[in-house]
Amino acid sequence: MANLSKNMVHIINEQINAELESAYLYLGMANFYAEKGLMGFAHNFKKQADEEVTHSEKLRDYLIDHSAPIVLKDIKAPRETYEDLRAPLKKQLEHEEYVTSLIYKIMDLAIEEKDYRTIEMLRWFVSEQQEEEVNARTLLEEYDTFGSDLSLLYKLNKKLGKRE
Ligand SMILES: [Fe+2]
Ligand SMILES: [Fe+2]
Repeated sequence: MANLSKNMVHIINEQINAELESAYLYLGMANFYAEKGLMGFAHNFKKQADEEVTHSEKLRDYLIDHSAPIVLKDIKAPRETYEDLRAPLKKQLEHEEYVTSLIYKIMDLAIEEKDYRTIEMLRWFVSEQQEEEVNARTLLEEYDTFGSDLSLLYKLNKKLGKRE
């Protein structure tokens, strides 16, 4: 199997860390909502945290398949308190836009190196990021529409609690 470049191995390791950091960020948000008694929101963010872990595993598997070294780094502690119920939703959207920019950076390197296999692997992440940005934006918009009405907020909370 073709070797990955040193730079590629490094940047994929950084992305493994970024995905785990995303998981940690969303777990903190899940804790915040659980504390507020919004168990549907909490469930949604716990599921999101789990998804981020699977993203890190995808990248880890990719490195293993190429016999490349995996370097686990420190994960920054997330904040677990926010000024209001909306703040984590806004943060999620900003964070996903940021993660998209990280994926694009890896893609830029893969294209520059004519690393076709990594380009192919990254395609999945490109469309996943699109989906995650749309989901985050939709949730923020739903909150802005329904959040100020308690009975509608309860319905949104209930809907989020059903996320698989
Ligand atoms: Fe992710
Ligand atoms: Fe994400």
